[in-house]
Amino acid sequence: MSKSAPAFTCTACGATARKWAGRCEACGAWNSIIEEAPLSAGPKALGAKGRSVPLTDLATEEAAPPRASSGIDELDRVLGGGLVPASAILVGGDPGIGKSTLLLQAAASFARRGVSCLYFSGEEASAQVRMRAQRLGLADAPVRLGAETNLRDILTTLDAERPALAIIDSIQTMWLDTVEAAPGSVSQVRAAAHELVTFAKRRGVAVILVGHVTKEGQIAGPRVVEHMVDTVLYFEGERGHQFRILRAVKNRFGPADEIGVFEMTGNGLSQVTNPSALFLSERGGASPGSAVFAGIEGTRPVLTEIQALVAPSPLGTPRRTVVGLDSGRLSTILAVLEARCGIPFAGLDVFLNVAGGMRVTEPAADLAVAAALLSAREDVAIPPETVLFGEISLSGALRPVGQTENRLKEAAKLGFSQAIAPSRSKLVRVEGMTVREMPDLTAFTGEMFGAG
Ligand code: TYD
Ligand code: MG
Repeated sequence: MSKSAPAFTCTACGATARKWAGRCEACGAWNSIIEEAPLSAGPKALGAKGRSVPLTDLATEEAAPPRASSGIDELDRVLGGGLVPASAILVGGDPGIGKSTLLLQAAASFARRGVSCLYFSGEEASAQVRMRAQRLGLADAPVRLGAETNLRDILTTLDAERPALAIIDSIQTMWLDTVEAAPGSVSQVRAAAHELVTFAKRRGVAVILVGHVTKEGQIAGPRVVEHMVDTVLYFEGERGHQFRILRAVKNRFGPADEIGVFEMTGNGLSQVTNPSALFLSERGGASPGSAVFAGIEGTRPVLTEIQALVAPSPLGTPRRTVVGLDSGRLSTILAVLEARCGIPFAGLDVFLNVAGGMRVTEPAADLAVAAALLSAREDVAIPPETVLFGEISLSGALRPVGQTENRLKEAAKLGFSQAIAPSRSKLVRVEGMTVREMPDLTAFTGEMFGAG
């Protein structure tokens, strides 16, 4: 390719192409390819000579940046211990899930603790936001509000005000007059996010960007925004449920995978300090198809109930419906049960669900999933005081998982007295818990259900 030839880049996966196309050949994304200035080779090709960048050693005397606490513990935890000054944070989530509510509450809480805060709404008029603040009992908080979508005006305001924190709700409504594209388009969102993130770093203003998520679970338009910011948080939950989970999927300043749990009430979001109790609150007595998984979310143990229903299928291809778990994982576990334990699920519809609208991603949930499936299939309840954890390998063996002590302690705290875990787990004695160790799935099914 000659140096002056235009290069096209996919904003979804970063692949380059010689000519524009409606669909990226590498990742299959539609309308994601944009023209970019060609890359040059070395300072000479750039025309003017640059200045040398000052270099430093790795050793440093600098203290870690002081973090500002929001006063909302569940939010601070997900941020990795509070807000880092001059950091850029993206909060993604489905429309209507409660992002604006959460951020208005956070803004008020920060402002009341002396962290100066500006809130720019591009979706609602100031009066609407003020009404919501009133309903949430936040009207007296010293948050300053702007209803604006023109990013040039917002940046000018921020430069004059220099708050500690700016909230932009949402990035999809912002537009730059230097970019010829509609607000919400890939190039606008990308350019707007770039301006805001650069501003944050230069001027020492922390920014929180709100982003709507598409049905496929991506921040609408550009994945690239995720790469630009320091921290990506997802606000998730099932519409019909009142529970909401704020999950860190990327964090340069703290552990990823940390979660904060909230409940949507008539007065906004309230924190849930004991999520296990909440997720298990709807559980009745012992019933077939229910298994309690002792999981870890970030640094904290969380117990969840896995529910399964298995019924004869009228369909040629039986249904496999999963809510809150990976459907690929279900297929794997069903295949292992069939091939290694001789328990077929052919001709049976399988429904699998995590109670309370929680999403479980840990492989350690495998054993609880298998237990729920077997319990539903055999119509035999698992003893109600039992929790399970362990990863299932393709050979049918159970693999030990980490943080067993945390899992067992949380289970004991909630009144459970028995745990089923893989053999060779690094177990620590926990008061009030008996642990039964199983080498593989066949031993487990034989013991629990007399099958296999
Ligand atoms: P919102 O924060 O506007 O969602 P987003 O910004 O993610 O689009 O939340 C909207 C929903 O939250 C709406 O369906 C009503 C509900 N809600 C409550 O249940 N209680 C409340 O106190 C508030 C403010 C909203
Ligand atoms: Mg909103």
